[in-house]
Amino acid sequence: MCETAKQPEIKVATGDRAILPEGAKTIPVYVMGKKYEVPETLTIMKAMEFAGFKFLRGAGCRGGICGACPTVYRMAGDYKLHFGLACQTVVQPNMYLAQIPFFPANRASYNIEEMNAAAEAIHALYPEIFRCVACNLCTKACPMEVKVMDYIAALKQGQVEKAARISFDCIQCGLCASRCMGEIPQYHVAQLARRIFGKYIQPRFEHLVSRVKEIESGKYDPMLDDLTKMDQEELKKRYVEREREPDLSTLGEWKPKETQYL
Ligand code: SF4
Ligand code: SF4
Ligand code: FES
Repeated sequence: MCETAKQPEIKVATGDRAILPEGAKTIPVYVMGKKYEVPETLTIMKAMEFAGFKFLRGAGCRGGICGACPTVYRMAGDYKLHFGLACQTVVQPNMYLAQIPFFPANRASYNIEEMNAAAEAIHALYPEIFRCVACNLCTKACPMEVKVMDYIAALKQGQVEKAARISFDCIQCGLCASRCMGEIPQYHVAQLARRIFGKYIQPRFEHLVSRVKEIESGKYDPMLDDLTKMDQEELKKRYVEREREPDLSTLGEWKPKETQYL
């Protein structure tokens, strides 16, 4: 008689950070090689919490903005590596997941006040950008669809403004650097380009200069004093009732009814 090998029973994972949505099916995912059954509706981050993991690092905004939750995954039977943000990517059956909450990329030290608009300073601080072999793996890894290779190419050509504009949506997750055979810390390089652009290339906005002067003159101190003295309920009420610019208003046309702080 042939005895069939007993398969280990897969238990539905439980956790105290997520409640199984009514009627949700569970699917298998693998976290650091171990199998968990998680609701199919959850993001990777919530699924891992459902499975009992607790994020001490590798989670921040939970809204796709802070770059703290880069994740690499493969699907069973497929060689291809996929990249995403754990807080934004919904789980799929048989995902093999690994978190990369920090990538130890080289970050140069500099004083932005002592620089100028020229790209030479970037070349001196990050000479490794000239090791780029145009493989484009960085762009393929970017969860924000930033054209990473293109901004590195722009910087090699001395085009700081172009690099700053291309990299504007970068959230510093580090996935691009994790793929780079030239060992280029692309996101730190691009951050420096945006700083140089903001300080030395972008025209100064006069209304911003005058607003800073108003703040420094103490114009808003009484309002701030009032707010800091309010209790939590009153603050919540003020927050909920605050005037907000409509999402679809035309640039420069909307003005709040309350104008004393303009
Ligand atoms: S450019 Fe690099 S660090 Fe920035 S979001 Fe894309 S992969 Fe992340
Ligand atoms: S991964 Fe590195 S070497 Fe490849 S294109 Fe991007 S910056 Fe260049
Ligand atoms: S937690 Fe901030 S981008 Fe995911």
